[in-house]
Amino acid sequence: MSKNNSLVVVGAQWGDEGKGKVIDHLAVKADLVARFQGGNNAGHTVVYGANIFKLHHVPSGILNKNTLCLLGNGMVVNPLILIKEMNELEKRGIDTSNLRISGKAHLILDYHEALDESNEKLLGEKKIGTTGRGIGPSYADKALRRGIRAIELTDFSRFKNRLAEVLPLQNRILRDIFDHPGYELDQLAEKYRPAVERLGPLVTDISLILDQGLAGGKKVLFEGAQGALLDIDHGTYPYVTSSSTVAAAAASGTGLGPQRLGQVLGVMKAYTTRVGEGPFPSEDKGEAGDQLRERGNEFGTTTGRPRRCGWFDAVIARYAAMINGLTGLALTKLDVLSGMEIVKIAVAYRCNGKEIKNFPSSIEELKLCEPVYESFPGWDEDISRARSLDDLPPAARNFIEALQKTVGVDAELVSVGPDRSQTIICPDSQLAKWFS
Ligand code: IMP
Repeated sequence: MSKNNSLVVVGAQWGDEGKGKVIDHLAVKADLVARFQGGNNAGHTVVYGANIFKLHHVPSGILNKNTLCLLGNGMVVNPLILIKEMNELEKRGIDTSNLRISGKAHLILDYHEALDESNEKLLGEKKIGTTGRGIGPSYADKALRRGIRAIELTDFSRFKNRLAEVLPLQNRILRDIFDHPGYELDQLAEKYRPAVERLGPLVTDISLILDQGLAGGKKVLFEGAQGALLDIDHGTYPYVTSSSTVAAAAASGTGLGPQRLGQVLGVMKAYTTRVGEGPFPSEDKGEAGDQLRERGNEFGTTTGRPRRCGWFDAVIARYAAMINGLTGLALTKLDVLSGMEIVKIAVAYRCNGKEIKNFPSSIEELKLCEPVYESFPGWDEDISRARSLDDLPPAARNFIEALQKTVGVDAELVSVGPDRSQTIICPDSQLAKWFS
């Protein structure tokens, strides 16, 4: 059983940690890349030559001709958006025939998007701030056993029959609770006919592909979406996404046993951001936060929303390390901190007069937490050309060392710019072996 050939990459903050670039860099060496949760609420920008791609479902491994890209059973897939994404890639010369979809992945259909929007409206000021992509309603239907799975796309009449079973109830909810006109069966089914034609042939058993791939020594990259603090169980509930975003979900979300997972790389920015609502102790609503947003171009890939910004939060990072079993950190956007006079790390929280080092499990307690910062001298140098830790100014190295010490996990990758080449792989790390 080949365990060391697999690498799980997860977000270790509130999403948007720069996973796209890290995964893009690592995917070059992968035979198989699998997503295991989430849907088109995820979004990352990949730069490929002169082209910029915004990917939402499709793993960035698609840019490598020989990499098989798998959408796992833990995902929710919007079939029409997926086709759009594939067309966009094909138009620019990227072959998408290496894509496979688990028959057990659940579909996001029009009524899920309508329900997402309606739920948020109903919540008013208490809204979650979802991406509006229908993620929650699709996962809710899965749990309520009234979802429609990708396997249904293998035959139009099978798809339509299943839609006929579930649509009356969806329509009642939409009409009676949300004053929405609802959907007509024939019209809605026809809308998805292209999905049956285009995606049906890609539907398969991806557990089997992964099982055989790993047994045959193939390198497998598991691509996480969102981040630890958005996890449905372990995140800042209810301000979370609707899937399990932690590393363990790479096993259940693809249909493998947990012992098949190898290294777990947690991606974190050298500072913290969050989109949507919910508590965020190290948020900086002043000048530093604005600087981070401008310099880091912190606007959402999926929704374009400005992100809330603040300093690196080691309390969160330690928690993310625990719930994911992180074996290494990928520290991204270090270059964004260049030019700041001082840089800070929240090493603990102060809550009701007490200092706490562990992330509180109650959101009410979290709302009361104030960060306890340690400050470090900043650096002015442009670090975007650094290709080894030795190329970094002493103040930047000192910041990384302090961060590693307080988190308790070493950085194995440091990113100093958006380009693939602007990456430092720490030479003695386990991650360095991925490239050997
Ligand atoms: P949903 O996943 O659209 O239901 O949104 C639930 C919460 O997760 C909201 O706060 C979103 O802003 C957040 N969220 C979902 N996907 C991402 C992501 O890829 N990056 C950052 N935040 C996300």
